[in-house]
Amino acid sequence: MSMFDKLEKIKYLIGNTPVHTVEVMNITLGIKLEYFNLFGSIKDRPAFNIIYEAVKSGRIGQDTTIIESSSGNFAIALANICHYLGLKFIPVVDPNINKDYLQLLKVLCSEVVMVTDRDATGGYLLTRISMVESLCAKHPDSFWTNQYNNPHNYLCYYDSLGQELLNQLEGLTHVFIAVSTGGTLAGLSKRIKEEKPSVEIVAVDIEGSVIFNQQPKSRYISGLGSSMVPPLLSHAQYDKVLHVTHEDIIDGCRALYNDTHIFAGGSSGAVYQGIRQYFATHPASHEYVVAMCCPDRGNAYMDTLYNNEWCNKFKKTEQLCCI
Ligand SMILES: Cc1ncc(COP(=O)(O)O)c(C=O)c1O
Repeated sequence: MSMFDKLEKIKYLIGNTPVHTVEVMNITLGIKLEYFNLFGSIKDRPAFNIIYEAVKSGRIGQDTTIIESSSGNFAIALANICHYLGLKFIPVVDPNINKDYLQLLKVLCSEVVMVTDRDATGGYLLTRISMVESLCAKHPDSFWTNQYNNPHNYLCYYDSLGQELLNQLEGLTHVFIAVSTGGTLAGLSKRIKEEKPSVEIVAVDIEGSVIFNQQPKSRYISGLGSSMVPPLLSHAQYDKVLHVTHEDIIDGCRALYNDTHIFAGGSSGAVYQGIRQYFATHPASHEYVVAMCCPDRGNAYMDTLYNNEWCNKFKKTEQLCCI
């Protein structure tokens, strides 16, 4: 079977994820469960779309080596897709990677490159990107998926997730989105604003990330935030930006579980806490239909966000309560 036919075969297993609707904070909250994608996260969408388009155009052949900088869900999605297609994939990761993800990448990829030097902003992104550039120079038939700059990242959210939310949530009034490469925010906001310009789009970022021109500082939670302003952000149409602290994210993950029984990752907790903070200062209404995504499950965060000892480093006053 050709690579293209193989991709066609699994296409229907990525996207069209369910929405769980709950009544909380006097609003209707629609939670898009993105961990139902085939390889476990929202990043299956851009990883699949980028590879699909490159295979379709002939840019990727059977001997092409795929290279990418990611310590998280994007690397896991690419590793699975490349393994399925019989393509070599070299992920460039950093020491913040969780040990289960590193283990899985080592199983699925013949080579995993770890950078250890922090960049000038205190993160690893810029070091990882220069490593990607040197690996691409070393491998003549290589393809850098380049999630930060590849338009097929944000276009998949325009074509799929944005439309799905419009179909699944009648009367949509607000959307809260976590940001890292800006792909989700750009594609989703473009599609939703086109159809319903009145929908308020709120971007949620973590303290220490420079995406929305804040001062850089070390970050300890993967999935959201960035050490650079992502080029894809220029396609985004948003009305507000909320910044949450590490402590907010810890609280948000627990509150999301307590209120909805959804056990989700850091960016889900960040967005849920963002929604709580927003409706603490803006009047809520039972007519509001608010959308958020759960990009991944909580399992990958057992050593961090769901480890009370780790969390205590960020807690200033109260002790954590059990979920
Ligand atoms: C768990 C999680 N949440 C949110 C995001 C942010 O998505 P985007 O890169 O589209 O801004 C990512 C991206 O890696 C992620 O892995």
